[in-house]
Amino acid sequence: MPRIIRVGTTMSKEKILEAYEEMADSYDAKIDHKPHNAYYDRPNTLKLITDPKGKSILDAACGPGKYAEILIAQGALITGFDMSPRMVELAKRRNKGAGDFFVHDLSEPLTALKDATYDTVLCALALHYIEDWNATMREFCRVLKPGGHLVISIEHPFFEYNYWKSTRYFDVEPENCTWKGFDKPIEVHNFRRPLEACIMPIVSNGFYIDSIIEPKPVEEYKLADPENYKKLMEFPAFMCIRAIRKPN
Ligand SMILES: C[S@@+](CC[C@H](N)C(=O)[O-])C[C@H]1O[C@@H](n2cnc3c(N)ncnc32)[C@H](O)[C@@H]1O
Repeated sequence: MPRIIRVGTTMSKEKILEAYEEMADSYDAKIDHKPHNAYYDRPNTLKLITDPKGKSILDAACGPGKYAEILIAQGALITGFDMSPRMVELAKRRNKGAGDFFVHDLSEPLTALKDATYDTVLCALALHYIEDWNATMREFCRVLKPGGHLVISIEHPFFEYNYWKSTRYFDVEPENCTWKGFDKPIEVHNFRRPLEACIMPIVSNGFYIDSIIEPKPVEEYKLADPENYKKLMEFPAFMCIRAIRKPN
């Protein structure tokens, strides 16, 4: 199993929260058209949520509620949570009373939610903030109905390995970088991990994997940012996975 390098985990979580509280308003203002989200992550991840009409969907680490907005418009019933209180406020504001949003940390048990409640759990671009996915996957499995779908998008482990110029592929390593795409530079901490540490926590905690997308950007990306469009057409930065909760 991959070795987890434990370096100031609590500190790291506090820093992630601080970073998202700080960038929440700017993130919300940009999320509709930010190329990596609007023209890369969302169109690919949403392909894995077929027929959301009438489905109960848990949006884990919902951010400012953009996924929720799209899925509510398609007739889904959304519950969403995020560690950042400001993100939760923005998700409520964006969705104007539709959906149910609360503050919660993905790495803690989902005690407010009953067993076998949701048809789908969505977790987009947030699992890289969690050091060990096992407890999170167990909770996702518990709150999903048997046969329910887990849909996640994550940073592609091969992209991350190259990006961070790591020499310790097999480890889960804390990393931090400065994001410059928001109003001011913001330092963001996350964990890089090998492919095994992306797949095994899913299949060891009540799921089998049904589908994987190594996404390509959609055409709108090319207009918005031709240089990065070219790079993403050559090598994936994200990976989208759908897993099915096994019957009891
Ligand atoms: C890149 S944003 C993605 C937001 C949303 N899922 C989307 O794709 O639009 C990552 C989100 O994860 C949240 N987050 C980070 N660590 C978390 C944790 N431990 N528990 C809950 N939310 C967390 C952040 O506050 C932020 O809103």
